[in-house]
Amino acid sequence: PGTPRAGGGSMDSTTMSPPGVAVRDPKSLVEKKTAIRCAGCSKLQVIADFDGTLTRYWIDGRRGQTSHGLLQQGNAEYDARRQALYEYYHPLEISPTIPIEEKTKLMEEWWEKTHGLLIEGGVTYDAIKKSVSEATIAFRDGVVELFEFLEELDVPVLVFSAGLADIIEEVFRQKLHRSFKNVKVVSNRMVFDEKGCLVAFKGKTIHVLNKNEHALDMAAPIHDKFGYPNGYNPDSVLMKQRTNVLLLGDHVGDLGMSDGLSYENRIAVGFLNNNTEMSFKSYLDAFDVVYLNDASMRGVVELVSQLC
Ligand code: TMP
Repeated sequence: PGTPRAGGGSMDSTTMSPPGVAVRDPKSLVEKKTAIRCAGCSKLQVIADFDGTLTRYWIDGRRGQTSHGLLQQGNAEYDARRQALYEYYHPLEISPTIPIEEKTKLMEEWWEKTHGLLIEGGVTYDAIKKSVSEATIAFRDGVVELFEFLEELDVPVLVFSAGLADIIEEVFRQKLHRSFKNVKVVSNRMVFDEKGCLVAFKGKTIHVLNKNEHALDMAAPIHDKFGYPNGYNPDSVLMKQRTNVLLLGDHVGDLGMSDGLSYENRIAVGFLNNNTEMSFKSYLDAFDVVYLNDASMRGVVELVSQLC
């Protein structure tokens, strides 16, 4: 029991309905939907992870690339060194058996080494544009529909990623050919010098397991140069006013994206992309709804239509 199958079938107290979606507790989900609908759209916000959540895990039989993974520095040695890090650390990232503290240290190590190699080996903004144009990356079907629908409803979307903000924004430009006024990207941001070369990263590194800490940062007041509170980060004001959250992620650590908000209701939707058999139970314990088989975003569009 507990093994998800495409096409449904019932399992334990869990409801599986085709194609490949599982709901942890159908009664609680209905209650959350009702509460969110009653509060209205002006109280709702969407917080979404990027890689493997908004983007597909498989594209024409090949693994979709992440914002980190697609970047070609224009320096073969450094690309190979980052790829070697990926091959070592990615299996650790998705392992369901490594304790969280240990995994957090490993993820810190991975991000630190990768960002170091990006600075040391050199990256230009032109290399980013070229890399995105050649990348194997695609949004899940239904993502544009979802963003358009949320834009019409005036519901903000925070794309919260441990990837690279500059690349994610370039993926939006090249793959969607448009921007959405309600969508904002919070991720690791590069600092370029006057020649357009990467020299540093802004602020604290965001990796897959510390999104909770960054959510708290965003909710914190801005301080003036004397250390006195001097207003609030506009994102955090927006986030705090909207007390109902639809959270989309592909990693249990993504649930931390809503930490720091005292939300009233949260519906968490998880996309389980790999290690399906071993990770299914932990995903279903963590998320209200779990999508399997690299599902489209259409189920989420339908869910939003039931909330607003
Ligand atoms: P996410 O927060 O948008 O899911 O982005 C993080 C993903 O990036 C995570 O699944 C691991 C992946 N990654 C790479 O593919 N290459 C890298 O060098 C690093 C540091 C992360």
